[in-house]
Amino acid sequence: MTGAPEKRSRSAASSLAPAPGDHALTVERLSKRFGDRAAFEDVSFEVGYGEVFGFLGPNGAGKTTTVRTLGTLIAPSSGTATVAGIQLTADNGPSIRARISIMPESPGLYLRLTVMENLQCFAGLYELDDVRGRIERALRSVNLLDRAGDPCGSLSKGLRQRVALARALLNDPAVLFLDEPTSGLDPVATREVHDLIGSLRECGVTIFLTTHRLEEAERLCDRVAILSTTLRLIGRPDELRQRLFRRSLDVRVRAPLEDLKVVLGALPEVEGWEQTASGYTLNVSDPDLAAPALARALVAAGADILSIAESRHSLEDVYLELLDEDVEAKRP
Ligand SMILES: Nc1ncnc2c1ncn2[C@@H]1O[C@H](COP(=O)(O)OP(=O)(O)OP(=O)(O)O)[C@@H](O)[C@H]1O
Ligand SMILES: [Mg+2]
Repeated sequence: MTGAPEKRSRSAASSLAPAPGDHALTVERLSKRFGDRAAFEDVSFEVGYGEVFGFLGPNGAGKTTTVRTLGTLIAPSSGTATVAGIQLTADNGPSIRARISIMPESPGLYLRLTVMENLQCFAGLYELDDVRGRIERALRSVNLLDRAGDPCGSLSKGLRQRVALARALLNDPAVLFLDEPTSGLDPVATREVHDLIGSLRECGVTIFLTTHRLEEAERLCDRVAILSTTLRLIGRPDELRQRLFRRSLDVRVRAPLEDLKVVLGALPEVEGWEQTASGYTLNVSDPDLAAPALARALVAAGADILSIAESRHSLEDVYLELLDEDVEAKRP
C-alpha cells in the first residue's frame, strides 16, 4: 500500500485540542462483568496522545470487551476512564464516539453494496459533514480509490479489511481502536495494514491495537500491555524483556574449557553460568562490559571462540513466560 493518510488536523478533536501531558486514554480500576464472570477486572493504564499502544492477551482475556467498553458500546461494571479527554459516562457516549473509531474483529460491511455505497451508508449513520471529501480522503489513505465501485462481496479479505479501515477513518478519529486488524490476513496484506498503521501514527492518531501477533506488537507499538482478565504487565517491549529476563551472553567455543570455574570465576562481570549444547550461557550485569573481558579471559585460557553474543529475548518470550506463570499460579 503506497497511499499515506492525509495529514489531518485532527479536526474532530480540535475543539478539544490536547494539552501537553494530556492522555488520550486514562483507565482506572475498570472492570466489566457478565453475570458473575469477569471479562476484565481492575484494569488501569494510560495512553498518551500519538502513542501506538498494544493490547495483548490469549483468547478470552478480555481485549475485545475492553475495546467495546472504552468505545462506549457497553458500560463498565466499575471503575472510571476518560477517552479522548472525555469522562466515560453514558451521557458522554455521543461526544466520545465523535472523537474515536473502532475497527472491530470482523469488518461488518454490506457485501452487496459497493465500497463507495458502504462508506456513504456509514458516513450517513455517523451524521458526518463533507461526506464526499471524507470518503475520498479515507479511500486514498488506504489506496482503494480505484476500487470504489466494486461490490464489497467481490473483494479479498485483505481488501475488505482496508475498506473497514477506510470506514474507521471517516470521522478523523483522535483515537483509533483496532481489534486484531491483521487476523486472517496473508503476509502481504498484513504488511500493507502495518504500513498504514505506521502512516496513521505519523499523522498523530493514537492507536489502541489488540493483537495475537507478538511480532506485530513488537514492531508497531510504543508500549504494550499484557492482559489475562487482569493486567499482567505494561511497558515498552524492551523494558518488559529486561524486567522478565536477566541479561546474558551466549558463548560458543570449539572445545569445552577444562578450568571453566577458574576462568569465569575470575570475572567480576559474570554472575553465574550454565552449560549449553554448544557452549555456555553466562548471566552478566552489563553485556557490553562483560563481552570484551570474557573474550580476553577465554583467549588467555587457550579456548577457540566461535561466537559471543547477547541473548535476545523476543516479546513472544515475555508473553509465554508470563502466561506460563499464570498457569503455574493456577495449579493447586
Ligand atoms: N456479551 C457477553 N456476554 C457474556 N460473556 C461475554 C460477552 N462478551 C464477552 N464475554 C466473555 O468475556 C470474556 C472475554 O471475552 P473477549 O471477547 O473480550 O476476549 P478477547 O480477549 O477479545 O478474546 P479473543 O482473543 O478470542 O478475541 C470471555 O470469557 C467471553 O466469553
Ligand atoms: Mg477479541
